[in-house]
Amino acid sequence: MTKENINWSELGFGYIPTDWRWVSNFKDGAWDEGMLSRDPNVLLNECACVIQYAQTCFEGLKAYTTEDGHIVCFRPDLNAQRMSETACRLEMPPYPEDKFVEAVREVVLANESWVPPYGSGATLYIRPNLYGINSVIGVKPATEYHFRIFVTPVGPYFKGGIRPLTLRISDFDRAAPRGTGHIKAGLNYAMSLHAIVDAHNQGFDENVYLDSATRTYLEETGGANLLFVTKDNKVVTPKSNTILKSITRRSLMVVASEYLGLGTEEREIPLSELGEFSECGLCGTAAVISPVGKIVDHGKEICFPSGMNEMGPVTRRLYDTLTGIQMGRIPAPKGWITVIK
Ligand code: PLP
Ligand code: COI
Repeated sequence: MTKENINWSELGFGYIPTDWRWVSNFKDGAWDEGMLSRDPNVLLNECACVIQYAQTCFEGLKAYTTEDGHIVCFRPDLNAQRMSETACRLEMPPYPEDKFVEAVREVVLANESWVPPYGSGATLYIRPNLYGINSVIGVKPATEYHFRIFVTPVGPYFKGGIRPLTLRISDFDRAAPRGTGHIKAGLNYAMSLHAIVDAHNQGFDENVYLDSATRTYLEETGGANLLFVTKDNKVVTPKSNTILKSITRRSLMVVASEYLGLGTEEREIPLSELGEFSECGLCGTAAVISPVGKIVDHGKEICFPSGMNEMGPVTRRLYDTLTGIQMGRIPAPKGWITVIK
């Protein structure tokens, strides 16, 4: 298979339209068969529910070329499941989970020339979307929906590749108790746009959100979960009903305990504990594990001992093991890798 003429190692996290996307329509109470399409554009009525009331959600996963030349996906069944949960919370018809995984396979295969080669530092990002398309003017769910999966080759999410990030404690809240913080709804990201632009303008890479009920516990960032390492090498991650159930974070906790023999804890983490940790990282499909060097809380700097130049040692081991599993260098737990080709 001839690959596209792309300088893979120079790619950032951007959108490059590829040849094929998966499209399926929901009408009269049922999903159609779905098909591959060459058309990257979507034509919508001006009164479509997605435009009026933001009835839209998404997922994010990746395809990798392994060391021995296969193309694989990482735990797509969990993305399918999470998208169903999100859809139900937003009163949308879930796309059948087995068809979701099958559609991921079809769209990756159809775009094989766009899957970055092994060792290039790039991966194929897979973005499923589900949104309400018929016109509604009173506040109510749509009755017709589009499900679509496009793919695009990407490099690192944060500019500059794997360099420690500087975060700030945000004055904005991300998710209300009993709200939508735990699902992958577009509205959670719409509300974060002002906060991220402001953070960037102030020289920060991302926002750390606190629990909005008490503003005393750490939650997550705009696009990734948080992970900490204690001075005695335990991996700790925030427990909260208002953060996204990151598939990367859940996998890393297994990697930490089963592969690295480290203690793990999922628990509430007070903001006041931040200075106690030896390492911090952001984890997610796009972020993989991005090391954090510093978190600024209204002028007070919390600097992690791993510093601003390199990943902390435990973060590095987590990163190497997870990416080793994804790229086929390290045997994966049963069911984690779906071989596409
Ligand atoms: N938290 C938020 C808000 C996200 O947008 C993402 C990205 O998907 C994550 C966490 C990480 O989740 P995952 O590891 O499933 O990609
Ligand atoms: C992902 O990691 O897949 C996400 O959806 C995060 C997004 C902010 C790019």
